[in-house]
Amino acid sequence: MNYDEFADLYDHQYDLYRDDLHFYAGVAERAGGPVLEVGAGTGRVTAFLARRGVDVTGLEPSGRMIGRGLERAARDGLNLHFQQGDARTFRLDTKFALAIAPFNALMHLYTPNEQLQALENIHAHLRPGAGFVFDLYVPRFGKPNTVRHEGETFHGPDGSRTDVTLVQRHDRVRQHITTEYTVDTAAPDGTLRRRFYTLTQRYYTRYEVEWLLRFAGFESPRVTGSFQGGPLERGSDVMVFQTRAL
Ligand SMILES: C[S@@+](CC[C@H](N)C(=O)[O-])C[C@H]1O[C@@H](n2cnc3c(N)ncnc32)[C@H](O)[C@@H]1O
Repeated sequence: MNYDEFADLYDHQYDLYRDDLHFYAGVAERAGGPVLEVGAGTGRVTAFLARRGVDVTGLEPSGRMIGRGLERAARDGLNLHFQQGDARTFRLDTKFALAIAPFNALMHLYTPNEQLQALENIHAHLRPGAGFVFDLYVPRFGKPNTVRHEGETFHGPDGSRTDVTLVQRHDRVRQHITTEYTVDTAAPDGTLRRRFYTLTQRYYTRYEVEWLLRFAGFESPRVTGSFQGGPLERGSDVMVFQTRAL
């Protein structure tokens, strides 16, 4: 999945998402060594950690997402370290004290082979006993094949207005959810610009992740249903996994 085309939209949509930041900062600070962030995107979490003095490397395949992250870092006077690469195939000399994969980053690994290749590669970059912490949303979807507006309206400094609508298609056999976004920007003079983006995620169930982790050489994980440590239960939106490399 190539995020290049999403780079412009991504920060509009998620820059204000902060539910996970203090959780990942706490985990990273306790690790006491270099941290690898897998699927770092535009550095939303990377920047938060770096600002707290964490030595963090943001692994990210999309050059445009990294470009956005570097622009943000320059604006904020931060020195961020990104590495362009794919979770399945990257090679770094560092052995990390912790790997994290915030905000559904592992949902871009679509087959068991891709998932295992990525987890084994992450494992190979960890010190013995090092932590691996990530979150995935609980698979629960809105009405499929229906145009939905979920409150995403952004007002630009130039007086423009952007509305995001979406249609989701659900392939239950492959465990794929495909979201087709339509992004309409109306300029103050009424001129309308329409863009389309398609995002496919491979969603997970809790127990398949537990088996996958064991298979890739990790301890049986601690699983919670929130970043505050609450149990995973019927109403939870997120599954948070905390494990260690054996
Ligand atoms: C939902 S974004 C999360 C970004 C960031 N972690 C955050 O919390 O804002 C998922 C990111 O995973 C990246 N990604 C997709 N496929 C990947 C792969 N095979 N290896 C590593 N990262 C990948 C995407 O480019 C994207 O930036």
